[in-house]
Amino acid sequence: MEANKTCIMHTYNQLPNIFTHGEDVYLIDQEGNRYLDFVAGIAVNALGYSHQGLKDALHQQVDEFLHCSNLYYNDEQLKAAKKITEATKMDRVFFCNSGTEAVEASLKLARKYAKFKGHNERYEIITMKNSFHGRTLGAISATGQTKYQDGLNPLLPGIQHVTYNDIDALKEAVSDITCGVMMEVIQGEGGIIQADAAYIQAVRDLCDEKGLVLIFDEVQTGIGRTGEVCAYMHHDVKPDIIALAKGLGGGVPVGAMLATKEVAQGFKPGDHAATFGGNPLAMSAVNVVLDQVMSDEFMTHIQEMGDYLSEQLEQLQADFSCIEEIRGLGLMKGIALNIPPIDVVKKAYDKKLLIVGAGSNVIRFVPPLVVQKEHIDACIHILREVLS
Ligand SMILES: Cc1ncc(COP(=O)(O)O)c(C=O)c1O
Repeated sequence: MEANKTCIMHTYNQLPNIFTHGEDVYLIDQEGNRYLDFVAGIAVNALGYSHQGLKDALHQQVDEFLHCSNLYYNDEQLKAAKKITEATKMDRVFFCNSGTEAVEASLKLARKYAKFKGHNERYEIITMKNSFHGRTLGAISATGQTKYQDGLNPLLPGIQHVTYNDIDALKEAVSDITCGVMMEVIQGEGGIIQADAAYIQAVRDLCDEKGLVLIFDEVQTGIGRTGEVCAYMHHDVKPDIIALAKGLGGGVPVGAMLATKEVAQGFKPGDHAATFGGNPLAMSAVNVVLDQVMSDEFMTHIQEMGDYLSEQLEQLQADFSCIEEIRGLGLMKGIALNIPPIDVVKKAYDKKLLIVGAGSNVIRFVPPLVVQKEHIDACIHILREVLS
């Protein structure tokens, strides 16, 4: 398989193993080595690798039909639409295939809604420095990190970046041409950095005052990851638009943009589309994931495991001065280090633990949401060895 590897376009620096399957919260390679997976496809494999309900639903869907055009309704999409609007407290959903597509749809809807309200002069969207919103040209333009944008100029015009958690900077940036604000409730790729509660409230208030659409990019934080269905639910605010993906399909590629009934009026038939969006195969996975995520018991499990992971990381911090800070919520945690995170990631990998960096100095823990204490103990044990 070595020669085959060169056929893959070199956009990632992959680690050498070739994985063939997964079990529970482990990935298994061609040689049968088992890797404890605290990456979960970067916050994707929410139900782990052995969820029988998810497998059964997908098998059954394969026998029924895989795809059905959005020229028609399909039963799985209608079920998923009801569940996801309830779970997120939104009114309308548009299904797509990835996080970046959910972000693109959000940007388009924000602009369209401004026009719908008669504000033809409004098109600018303000996003945050250090944010990450995806890789299409629109989403990368919205992303507030120049390292992802190098060589791509000209970027999409009509986007301005301001300092996260600085309400004065946002107030100053808003002008007659602004139509919306987009932010992550916790910056994931940026290094697990949380928005302050007061900041989130102030952003909502400002958007209300100026008639701007507030978009929360919950692609990484959504679907139970932080111990609530969406991270915004830890606060007493509600956005107008939400972008979701990652954990939503439990590993099947799917994204979603949700909106309030009011803002959804910005789109009329023909304004947006995705051939594969909401297809029955993806929707059958979404239905299983949402059943799980909407159960109180499962959410309690995430909160308990998140607290346990925090406690264990705090103990580790007490013993190792290279850990400067513990960040995050629920099962989206990070440790900020004063040593290169990549060295830790590689040494952990040698000891069969998968972890991933975030920002310039953070290691991220985003395991499957079905993770148990024994897996957290095993992860901490390996980290202890690595840091020693
Ligand atoms: C907050 C956020 N938005 C958007 C994206 C892009 O999602 P995708 O890679 O599915 O296009 C990501 C991916 O990491 C993300 O973390």
